[in-house]
Formats: sequence, structure tokens, C-alpha cells
Amino acid sequence: MMQNILTFTVTIFILLGPEMSLYSQSMSAQEIELRIDQLIEKMTIDDKIGQMNQRNGADGREDAVRKGLIGSILNEADTDKINAIQRIAVEESRLGIPVLIGRDVIHGFRTIFPIPLGLAATWNPELVKKGARISAVEAASVGIRWTFGPMMDVSRDARWGRIAESFGEDHYLTSEMSVAMVQGFQTDDLSRPDAIAACAKHYVGYGAAEGGRDYNTTYIPEGLMREVYLKPFQASVNAGVATIMSGFHEINGIPATGNTFLLKNVLRDEWNFDGFVVSDWASITEMIPHGFCADEKDAALKAINAGVDMEMASDAYQKFIKQLLAENKITMDMIDASVRSILRVKFKLALFENPYTDPSKFPAIANPENLECARESAVQSIVMLKNDKQVLPLSKDVKRIAVIGPLADDPFEQLGTWSFDKNIDDTQTPLQALREFIGETAKIDYVKTLETSRTKSTDEFGKAIEAVKNSDVALLFLGEEAILSGEAHCRAEINLPGAQEQLIEEIHKIGKPTVLVVMAGRPLTIGSVLDKVDAVLYAFHPGTMGGPAIVDLLFGIESPSGKLPVTFPKMVGQIPIYYNHKNTGRPPRADSWVHIDNIPVRVWQTSLGNESHYLDAGYTPLFPFGFGLSYTQFKYSNLKLSSKKIKLGDKITISATIKNAGDVEADEIVQLYIRDLVGDRTRPVKELKGFQRIRLQPGEEKSVAFEISTDDLSFYNQKMELVTEPGLFHVWIAGDSDSGLRGEFEVVE
Ligand code: GLC
Repeated sequence: MMQNILTFTVTIFILLGPEMSLYSQSMSAQEIELRIDQLIEKMTIDDKIGQMNQRNGADGREDAVRKGLIGSILNEADTDKINAIQRIAVEESRLGIPVLIGRDVIHGFRTIFPIPLGLAATWNPELVKKGARISAVEAASVGIRWTFGPMMDVSRDARWGRIAESFGEDHYLTSEMSVAMVQGFQTDDLSRPDAIAACAKHYVGYGAAEGGRDYNTTYIPEGLMREVYLKPFQASVNAGVATIMSGFHEINGIPATGNTFLLKNVLRDEWNFDGFVVSDWASITEMIPHGFCADEKDAALKAINAGVDMEMASDAYQKFIKQLLAENKITMDMIDASVRSILRVKFKLALFENPYTDPSKFPAIANPENLECARESAVQSIVMLKNDKQVLPLSKDVKRIAVIGPLADDPFEQLGTWSFDKNIDDTQTPLQALREFIGETAKIDYVKTLETSRTKSTDEFGKAIEAVKNSDVALLFLGEEAILSGEAHCRAEINLPGAQEQLIEEIHKIGKPTVLVVMAGRPLTIGSVLDKVDAVLYAFHPGTMGGPAIVDLLFGIESPSGKLPVTFPKMVGQIPIYYNHKNTGRPPRADSWVHIDNIPVRVWQTSLGNESHYLDAGYTPLFPFGFGLSYTQFKYSNLKLSSKKIKLGDKITISATIKNAGDVEADEIVQLYIRDLVGDRTRPVKELKGFQRIRLQPGEEKSVAFEISTDDLSFYNQKMELVTEPGLFHVWIAGDSDSGLRGEFEVVE
């Protein structure tokens, strides 16, 4: 009976048309499936292929859209053009199917937040979700209803340019950040006019590119794939991410865009993903140079067979689907499955009921609330790596400040990679913020010194040295221009480019208190200059409000709270280096490493007592994952476990007391790590399993507790079964991955 009423009601809706909707715009899943069925019935093969076709930009697409040959357009952000092309699709095409407008809204639309690597350093999913919400509202206001984000490629290689766009080396932190962004972009109701569909990318393992060289080959055994690279995607699918993007790379000889096991067996059959898969830019036809497909027709066949629903930018589907159907190499059911997935997202977005946008109905773009969230995000994204002699925070009584370097006042560079829709006039640079904060009472002597981060000329050094000599403190703003990271922008050396290291050397000789503020899209090997500066604030690329955020930290308005989402190597040769590594059969020990300079001449070679390290770099990083200093000191004590033994299926609570032993109020990100000592496949020496941000007043102490279940200890055994094995576990509550209080417990049958 109920079904009949529903069918009748929805049928009335369809007959009356969207303008006469009897419903709020968010239809039930059942109603959506009914409407898809109704629409599919009316679609020709050309209509169906059209939905699977995404083209770049709206210009010149009018006729194809009118014929129903384009289902999505990317890289269009002009509202008038979007509404115009949408009007053609909805009012002039035969079926009136709206076009889905996509854009890379990665870390902001007009209000630019810190790059995702910086957002990860906040370890604050709620704040990241809030920033994604703001980004979605700004993008939706111009007519964009789909972002190609969040990028959730775990990356353990700082040479890779796209580490800037990632949430770093750990799958748990990446999962938490990815889900936060998906929820921020989509909300729990995609039909809201200010909601945009998210896109989990780049499915999957793109960040494992050999040599940290973009688009390069990856070899990822299934256990590693499931335990690390797939985890953020699985979490995002569970959180309802609307779309997935297949990557450019190949995995174990099979391109991601032609990988049936990953796109069908895992994504559809195991995870029941019901959104759609879009290829990355031409990644379908790039399967030809990969040597996986003979020609475009073969590429179309293998991509459809693997489960890619929509083709971005290339046109193999448009050219060959009909032929492949006629040759019975693919079936109409396969095409219908892809079209249904695409239409499902369009219905969920209520695009049929609400195809046009009116910016006047949205909050103003880059409004004060949005900028304040960007400032707060930047403050929490900045990691203090060093603060000798308590040079920071600076006193407000400081009289003379030398501001040196190419990134002190560059409104473009501080926004970082993937900031397409920025307006650099919105940017507040460190120099601007300093002048506003203390320009009335302090003399600020600014010398850019280097035109860009890559400048090799030392011609301007003299002016910089003079300014520092006449200062009470030298603030150096150095690092990488935005274009030195991001897609295809990988580096084999990851030091400070150009003459920046020399500049630090020269300024160090003057002997004034020196603070280095780094803006970069990756960890840089700053070890060679670390002893030449007194303090280091690592700001990644901090976005529109990076200037005020940096000044707030420099003067102690806020205490630094950021923690590294990625390990910082001493030198590039240590890469890959990451905290959750395996122990090996010869784990290195502090006292076993003899530095290359200290090996006796003509010493006799032996294989006894050797361990896994580098003669010239040892085995420890410059800074470990999870590390970050504060203006106060946090003391950890009183580790407690609710039990020393737990049965499979039980939970355990681990707690510790954290005390603010300093004299300023500050946040601490308390981290929980575990180690499974013995496994059917070897387990990492540490795995992040939880974190909490706490705020403590001076002298205040607080007990922080984590509850985990034995399911949280599971891994894939040799048969690729997800299991938790009985045995001994270590557990830490810590302020970073290299310290903390350690306890142990046993899991028993
Ligand atoms: C690019 C990127 C992808 C992006 C797409 C559209 O090449 O790999 O992340 O979303 O093209 O710009």
C-alpha cells in the first residue's frame, strides 16, 4: 500500500515538474531511484554517453550541451557563464538534465586556507570541517556544486610536489581530515544550495610514486594498500563522499584508471559505494602511454570495464562507446550503471529543482567571518620547531625589527598551490600584519633581499645585513614559492632554494636574535641552517590570513600548537622516512651508529653488529611526526590502563595526566600510539590511533583518556583477512611520535 502511495505521489511530482515540487528538495533514496528509472527510460545512447562526458570550460560548449552531449563542465567559475550554460541544459535540451559544474576547491575558493599539509598540522578536524564549509558556500555561490577534493593520498616522500596537497604520512590523521572535509563540503544534505559534492582523490596510492616523482610508478602490495592507502578512501566512502577520482599512476602494472580490482571489487563490491567515479584529467587515454591500452578505443573499453563512470577532459568515451556496444564488447547495462551513478549525484544535489545560482542569496565572499576562520586555521597550522633562549614570543616593547626575505610580503606566494580562485588583494602578509600590529611603536626595516625564493644573487645581502645590525631582532621569511610544490612540481633536493641558506649564514654572523619563518609546500631539509637561527616557525603556505596568524604567534597573542603531519628528514637521502615504519631484523640503536667521519681508517669490514642506518645521517629524522613546540611546557604523567589483559572484542581505556607546567595558556594535541609486537605480517613500530586537543591554563592539569577496542588493533594477515591477533601490545600517550609514556597490555583469546 505504502509503495503505491509513494509511486503515485512521486509520479504526480514528475508530471507537475520540478517547479511544482511537492517535496522539500531533499528527496528520499527511493524517490531518487524512481526518478532515475523514469529518466533512463527516455535517454538515447547519445544522451547516456553525454552524461559520462566532462569538458573543460563553458566557452563554446553551448551546442553540445543543447544536444545533451556534455554532462559536466570543469574549470568554470564565472556565474553568468555557469547560469547561461545551465539554462541551455535545463530549458533547451530534450531531457533538461542539468550540467554538473566542478572545480578544484582544495583549500579554499576565494578565502584561501592553509594548504592541506598545513591544515593537517592543526590536528583539528572540526576546524578543517568549518573551513571546508566556508569554501563550499563561497564556491556554491558562483554556481560550482562539485569540488575535486579532498585529496587524501598518503605521502611519505617530501620530494613529491603534491605532498603539499595531502594530509601527510599517516592514514589515521589523513582519514580524520578527509572525513572532516567531506562533511564540510557536503553537509548531511547535498540538496542544500550551499552544499557541494566532494571527490575523494586520487584513488588510490598516487602518493607512493617511486622517487617522489609525480605520475611515476607505484608498487603497493595488497596488505599495505589496505592498511594505509585505502583507509582514508574507505573512511570517506563510509562518510558518504559523493564521488571518487581515479589517479594517473599505475599500481603494480595496472593503471588506477583501469584497475577493476580497486574500482569494482573493493569500491563497489566491498564498500557498496553508490556515487560515481571520474577519471583524472585524460587518465583514460594516458593508459596508452602507460602501455596498458593499444589505442583510445581500447582505453575506453578498459576504463568502462574497470568502473570509471565519467571521463574528464579526454573524449574516448564520446568517440568509442557506441562502437564498443555495437561490437558487444560492453553492454547497455554497464553504461546504464554509470549513468545512474552520475544522475544519482545530480538528484542528490537537487540540481533538477535548483539548477541556477544567485550569489545575492549567499553570504559575501571573503567576509570577515570567513577570514577569521582562515586566520584561526593558519594559527593552528603553524608548527614551532625551535625556540632557543626563549627568543619567542617577542616583547611588544621591541623597538627595531629587521624583516628580511622574499616571503615577508608576497600576497601571491603565501597562498600556496591549488588556489585557483584567490584574489591576492585579500591576502594579509606578515609585513602588513607587523606594521599594523606594532608599526606605531617599533621601527620595521624591511629588506626583501632576494626577488624570489630561487634567486641566487647576493647583491642585496649588504642591505639586509645593515638592517639586521640596526635591529633588536631579525625576522627571516624564507622558503619556497608556491609553484615549487603542487602537481608535477617535485624536487630532488628539498633544501631552501637559491641563496637563502647563504643569507641565513651571513645574518647569523651578526649575532642578533634571529627567527626563521618558513613558508613551503613540503618539509624542507633545514638541518644545515637550524643552528644558525634561534627560533623556527614552520608555516607551510598559510593562506590569505597567514600574516596576522604569524604575528599572533610571534608576539604570543596565541601559543603555537601545530604538530607535524609528516616527518622532517635530516637530508633528502633519508627519504622515504616516516614514523610508522617496520622494525627490520636489525633495528638501529642510538649507540650503534658510528658517524661516517668517525670510522677509523682502513678498519676491517665486518657484518656483525651492523644495523639499519646511514653512515652520514644515522636513522633518526630532523623532526618526528607529531612534533611541535609551545610557549609552555606540557608534562605527561600517571599513565593508566583500565586493564592489563583484554579479550578479543573488548575495549581498553588508556589515560594520562597532562599538566601545563609553564606560565601561558596553551593547547596541546595529545596523541595515542600503539604497537603490535608480533603479527602474521610484521607490524609498524608505532601506529597513531587517536588524538585530542586540550587547552590548559598555566598550572592546570587534566586527565586525558582514550578508549580503543580490539577492532582498532586489526590488520590484514597473510590471507588478507582483517584480524586482531592475541598477543602483547605497547601503548603510548605522547606529545609526538618519538616520546611519551609507554604502557603495555595483552590481548587474549
Ligand atoms: C589535475 C589533477 C586533479 C585535478 C584535475 C582537475 O591534473 O591531478 O587533482 O582535480 O586535474 O583540475
